Amino acid sequence: MPVAYLNGAFLPVEQAQVSVLDRGFLFGDGVYEVIPVYGGRLFRLAHHLKRLRNSLAGVRIDNPLDDGEWARVLDELVTRNEGSDQAVYLKVTRGADVKRDHAFPAGVKPTVFAMSSPLPGPRDLAREAGVRAITLTDIRWQLCNIKAITLLPNVLLRQQAIDAGSAEAILINDGRAIEGAASNLFIVKNGIVITPPNSNALLPGITRDLVLELAAYNAIPFREADISEAELHAADEVWLTSSTREISPVVILDEQPVGDGKPGPLWLRMSRLYQGYTSAVRRGEAS
Ligand code: PDD
Repeated sequence: MPVAYLNGAFLPVEQAQVSVLDRGFLFGDGVYEVIPVYGGRLFRLAHHLKRLRNSLAGVRIDNPLDDGEWARVLDELVTRNEGSDQAVYLKVTRGADVKRDHAFPAGVKPTVFAMSSPLPGPRDLAREAGVRAITLTDIRWQLCNIKAITLLPNVLLRQQAIDAGSAEAILINDGRAIEGAASNLFIVKNGIVITPPNSNALLPGITRDLVLELAAYNAIPFREADISEAELHAADEVWLTSSTREISPVVILDEQPVGDGKPGPLWLRMSRLYQGYTSAVRRGEAS
């Protein structure tokens, strides 16, 4: 049975329980992270902990653990769970008061929870078929840079995509393509990789940042720039990135093929670079 961490203790995930008065349950009042694990090693932990600190500061919850404590808790969680490749989910809520009141309670300790689930092993890139996506209006709030657990808009948008036979919804805000319901967005046009700049309109993805680092290191031309809806539909390639899906090529967008309807050459090159990086993490040569 998978092992979870809750407020200082490790226990089987099914036995982990929180109060119905927890503000995460009542208000979605909390933040989270999803951290991939390759070969038993937490991927880009420092980056994830930095984003966690920013999210906590953004919702005014004190960080319950310092970086060293987080590392020890999460390393132990990984060791206690089976499989060398995992996805660690962690969340911090504002905690449980004795009543329901929107205003912050005084003297309440945050709830700290983490669990792990298996990640599929390395992908066979040559056989990758790509995914379908649709565009939908971005109905979320104005602090999308905070990784808040309040995910109802994302849930509704993703389900709308699934109901339409697609893997993901690409969100359109004021004529601009922003990101996926649970992923960041890249396009390729004339050999240039383009992704929207970080802002409060989107989540600063850890996978996104690594893709940009790999592009810079390998002299692949890239730009951080707004992507209009028209540019999205005219792109040679469209990719979606996230910790659990890595780099996913979109081959059908709104029922139309992207490029020639197959994963593109720059996607293959970038995915190989990305897998090279995850292999280095497995060997303990990168983090
Ligand atoms: N979601 N944008 C949104 C809205 C996301 O929810 C995610 C990740 C990303 C990609 O960020 P990263 O590369 O750091 O995973 C972008 C996670 C995986 C989730 O909610 O399960």
